[in-house]
Amino acid sequence: MIVRRAVADDVAFVADLDWRAMHEPYLLGLPEVRLGERREASFQVWPSFFAAPESRVYVGLFHNERLGFAAVRCIVGEAELDAIAVEPRARKAGVGRALLAFTIADLFAAKTSRIGLEVREKNTAARALYTAYGFEQEGVRRSYYENGDDAILFGLSLERFSFR
Ligand SMILES: CC(C)(COP(=O)(O)OP(=O)(O)OC[C@H]1O[C@@H](n2cnc3c(N)ncnc32)[C@H](O)[C@@H]1OP(=O)(O)O)[C@@H](O)C(=O)NCCC(=O)NCCS
Repeated sequence: MIVRRAVADDVAFVADLDWRAMHEPYLLGLPEVRLGERREASFQVWPSFFAAPESRVYVGLFHNERLGFAAVRCIVGEAELDAIAVEPRARKAGVGRALLAFTIADLFAAKTSRIGLEVREKNTAARALYTAYGFEQEGVRRSYYENGDDAILFGLSLERFSFR
C-alpha cells in the first residue's frame, strides 16, 4: 500500500469514487435523473479542485490499483479535509487509515496549524476513523445536509507538538 500526491491522471478516478462513495447513503432515494446530474457535477468540480493552488489530493494504491483518495484545501495555514473515500470493495483493510496518516503527516510538514472537517452524524465509520487519529468534536451544524442530517464538526490541532 502506498499513498502519494495525486496527478492530473487521477482526476477521473477521484471524481467517480467521490460520486459513488460520498453520496451513497442519500442518493439511494433520489430519482435516476438526479443521480446522473450528480455524477456530471462531480466530473465538473474535481478538475478545478485539482487545479486550485490551495488543494492537495492524495491517492492510495495497492499493486498500482487506486483504492482511495483524500482531498484537502489549505488556506492561511489551516486545512479543511473536504473528502476521503475508499473503494467499497477495499474498505476495513486499513486504506482509510493510510490515507489519513499520510494527509496529516504531509500537512504537518507543510506547517499547517490545524485540520478541520465536517461529517454526517450517522457516518459511524468516518467518525471512528477521525477519532482514532485524534480529531476532536468541536460542534454540530443542525440539519446541514440536504436530507436533514446533522453535521458534526471535527478538528485536529497540529500545534500541540512542542518540538516544532
Ligand atoms: C470512512 C472510510 C474512508 C474508511 O475507510 P476504510 O479504508 O474502510 O477504513 P480503515 O479500514 O482504514 O479503518 C480505520 C478505522 O476506521 C473505523 N472504521 C472503518 N470502517 C468502519 C465501520 N464500517 N464501522 C465502524 N468503524 C469503522 C475503525 O475505527 C477503523 O479502525 P479499526 O480497523 O482498528 O477498527 C470508508 O468507509 C469510506 O470510504 N466511506 C464512504 C465515504 C465517506 O463516508 N467518507 C467520509 C466523509 S466525511
